[in-house]
Amino acid sequence: MAKPLALVTGAGIGIGQATAVALGKAGYHVVVTDVLEKEGRATARRISARGSAEFHVLDVTDTKAVNAVVAAVEKRHKRGLSAIVNNAGIAKKLPTAKLTDADWDLTHEVDLKGMMRVVRAAAPGMKKQKQGAVVCLSSIAGYTVGWADHVPYVAAKGGIAGLVKGFAIDLAPFGIRVNGIAPGLIRTAQSLDPVHSVGAKGLQAMVPRVPLGRIGTPDEIADVVLFLISEQARYITGQVLTVDGGMTVAL
Ligand SMILES: NC(=O)c1ccc[n+]([C@@H]2O[C@H](COP(=O)([O-])OP(=O)(O)OC[C@H]3O[C@@H](n4cnc5c(N)ncnc54)[C@H](O)[C@@H]3O)[C@@H](O)[C@H]2O)c1
Repeated sequence: MAKPLALVTGAGIGIGQATAVALGKAGYHVVVTDVLEKEGRATARRISARGSAEFHVLDVTDTKAVNAVVAAVEKRHKRGLSAIVNNAGIAKKLPTAKLTDADWDLTHEVDLKGMMRVVRAAAPGMKKQKQGAVVCLSSIAGYTVGWADHVPYVAAKGGIAGLVKGFAIDLAPFGIRVNGIAPGLIRTAQSLDPVHSVGAKGLQAMVPRVPLGRIGTPDEIADVVLFLISEQARYITGQVLTVDGGMTVAL
């Protein structure tokens, strides 16, 4: 039987890479996409060693490119996507005193509108199959708490909770489920960036605030993505699941 198709955005590194690899192991044909060509190709090669994958350069801010990649994949495989992992995201330190419209727009183009573009392009193919699952990466910053000097990121990540609910309702009649994940602190290039995020020292300093006593790994988010797209989650839609080692429930 043909493998179900799963498309992951920003799959060259970090959470996206770990998720793409996990999807490959779980028997999906993985459509690895990223603006990072070298890293994206490496992810696809790694999956192809034991499973199957293909790579496409894809900037989620480019509507034509998103539409073209989804159409090309559907044409090549003669079926729609079964799963979308809307993972691509940027986190920029943007103090309000210096915040420009362009800064705001770029964060929203990638972190929120980019997710809409992929679902919009893939929805007709999924609807025809009467099945599909979408997972969008939000963040505890935006879904639950604020983050100093990151208003555009917090607003976009909070917006993902609305995007998930909106698409969940629109697509439920077609058997398509749409959920989100709000990760806490996960060790990746994004969180290790000392300028735009907390950096290595900052991550270490925050460990005492995490009840489970450690920083999360990309695999720990990938496992939850796999759960949300699986049959085990067949009655879950429109939800955002927090995966933060208990950080946001600690006093
Ligand atoms: N790491 C964390 O602690 C953490 C916490 C909460 C939420 N998240 C979210 O999880 C997701 C993955 O984060 P990560 O930590 O792996 O980040 P990362 O910076 O390690 O990887 C982000 C990926 O997105 C890609 N990307 C950036 N702009 C793009 C664009 N315009 N088009 C397509 N791809 C683009 C990058 O090339 C990269 O592959 C993001 O949405 C992030 O906001 C991460």
